[in-house]
Parts: sequence; C-alpha cells; structure tokens
Amino acid sequence: MSKITAAITAVGGYVPENKLTNFDLEKMVDTNDEWIRTRTGISERRILNEPGKATSDLGAAAVQNLLDKKGLDPKEIDCIICATVTPDMFFPATGNLIAHKIGATNAFSFDLAAACSGFLFALTTGATYIESGRYKKVIVVGADKMSAIVDYTDRNNCILFGDGGGAVLLEPSTDDCGIKDSLLKSDGTGKDFLYMKGGGSLNPASVETVLAKQHFIHQEGQSVFKFAVKGMADVSAELMERNGLTGEDIAWLTPHQANLRIIDATANRMGISKDKVMININRYGNTTAATIPLCLNDWESKLNKGDNIILAAFGGGFTWGATWVKWAY
Ligand code: UT7
Repeated sequence: MSKITAAITAVGGYVPENKLTNFDLEKMVDTNDEWIRTRTGISERRILNEPGKATSDLGAAAVQNLLDKKGLDPKEIDCIICATVTPDMFFPATGNLIAHKIGATNAFSFDLAAACSGFLFALTTGATYIESGRYKKVIVVGADKMSAIVDYTDRNNCILFGDGGGAVLLEPSTDDCGIKDSLLKSDGTGKDFLYMKGGGSLNPASVETVLAKQHFIHQEGQSVFKFAVKGMADVSAELMERNGLTGEDIAWLTPHQANLRIIDATANRMGISKDKVMININRYGNTTAATIPLCLNDWESKLNKGDNIILAAFGGGFTWGATWVKWAY
C-alpha cells in the first residue's frame, strides 16, 4: 500500500477592508513612508476595526472563503487547528469559535501558539493526523488580530503589524503530493527579545500592568532580525539538503512576511531567484500566523500540481521552521 501524505487541497484567505498606510502612520508617530518601505518592505496593512470583531472573525472568514471555493460542507470537517497569539479570549479556544461560526459541528478544534511560526507548527501537526489515517479533512488556520496588541504610540512596532487570516484544507493523498517534510525548532531563550509581558499567569492583568504597557508587543528588533536571518535560512537550507533539493528544484519559496530584508537573505542562501518568492508584505505587513496561508491564497492561481514549495518562518519563542510541500492541484 502506498504511503498516505497530507495534501493541501484548498486554500482560503481574508483581510479586513480597512487600510492603515505608511502615510497614516506618519500622522500618528515620528516615522516616514521612506524609512518604513526601505527597512521593512511594508507600504500598508489591514486593520480589523469593527467593534465586536476579533481573531475568530478573521479565521472564520478565511475558512468560509476556502469552503466556498472548494464547495465543501463544513459538517465534513474532522478537525480545525488554529494558530494564533491573539486569541479572542484565553478560553474557549479561538478554534472552537471558528468551528462554531462556520458550522463545523462534527469537528474537534483547538489553538496552537507558536507566534509567527504558528502556521507551520499547526500544519505539521495537522499533517500527522492525516498521515495516521484516522482523519480525512483537517483545516489549519493561521489568524491574528495584531492590532489588538500593538501600541500605536510605539514607532518601533506599530509600523510592522497587520490583521488577517488564512486557511488550508489537508486531505489524504497517495500520489506523492502533499507535506513531504518539516523541520521545526524552538528556543525559549528568545523570551527576552520578543514578548507580551502582561495578561498571563506571570503578570495577571492589573492597573499596574496596563499602566506599564505590558499588554502590548515588545520586540528588540535588531536582535530578532539577526536570529531571524540566520534561523530561517539555516533551517530552509538544512531541509533542502536532507531531501536532496537545490534552488533549481524549487518552484516557490513562501516565507513568513516579517521583513523584506529577512526574506531576501533567506532566498539568497537557498539559491532561489526573487521571481520565485511569494511576497505580499507590502500590502499586509506582518500578520503573524496568517502570513504563509495568505501568500498561498494570493498565489493559488499560479501554482501547479507537483510544484515544490518551501514554506519558512521565524518568530517569537523563538520558534522557527521550514516545510517542503509538493502542491497537489
Ligand atoms: O515576525 C516575528 C519576527 N520579527 C522579525 O523578524 C522582525 C525583525 N526585526 C526587524 O525587522 C527590524 O529590526 C525592524 C524593522 C524592527 C527595525 O529595523 P532596523 O533596521 O533593525 O532598525 P533599528 O531598530 O536598528 O533602528 C534604526 C534607526 C534608529 O535610529 P538611530 O538610533 O539610528 O538614530 C531607530 O530609532 O531607525 C530608528 N527607527 C525609526 N525611524 C523611523 C526605528 N523605528 C523607526 C520608525 N521610523 N518607525
């Protein structure tokens, strides 16, 4: 019997309509369009500013987009894994809320937190469910409402992030397409460089934590940059090497969209030319767990069955990783 692989058989994405441009930010903090574009590659990002809307709405809209395109009944879904660091609430899980919103009444669902690498960690987890033979339809969602934890008086961070959601459907395949290999890493020493201090069990929410701005992202940008450039390139190169792949074998690189300079460095190290790199950071900024599925959704019409795609990410934790996907449709 041929081995079961987990194939991506549909994708979906959603970003809110409301745009926050570099020129808008110029009016909010001491920054300018030229600095943001040359240092990060970002021109605008989308912000979910409707009252009462949260990460589950971004995730549910992305999954609904996938279901509509695929013509899939939500009752057929076995499992939904939601990667996020901005859950609607600590509990219930945002995955539970997404399942409820889209009518996936037969699915079990849960959240997975691995910051900007969350989608890759969730994808690898979902793939093993499929490979086990026990589940037939697993949805992996990456969704983050980053604007909920961004301090819009902090010019170091507020220019970077946006809101969005993306989703893929995993199904069993025996024709050699699907998630071929994954290399995932984490290192808790990264806790000193990228974190949100308040609101958890270490520093529960209080007047003091609010006044000390502990409910916002804190990032030592330069340090994270150095780790990210090395981590994302190293892990992608190792994944390719252990599978005997060279840059020429790769149809597309789908990198996490944190900084265009990190993306360029990773592509160079892998020997992949710029025209094969998915880049939408200019339009969406860093949407954390959503960047990779949003790229797959934006590039869906250009992908062909059998294309070798490397997904690569680096983020808080630190967490990082790369996944080799053979496109299935
Ligand atoms: O997705 C999760 C993982 N995160 C990442 O991968 C992000 C990694 N880090 C980065 O992408 C970059 O470090 C940043 C984009 C965050 C910052 O870029 P940088 O080239 O590392 O800038 P910097 O922090 O070294 O700052 C350079 C200068 C400083 O001024 P001085 O000290 O040289 O006078 C900053 O104060 O730029 C200044 N600066 C700004 N100027 C205009 C910092 N933020 C801004 C700003 N507008 N928004």
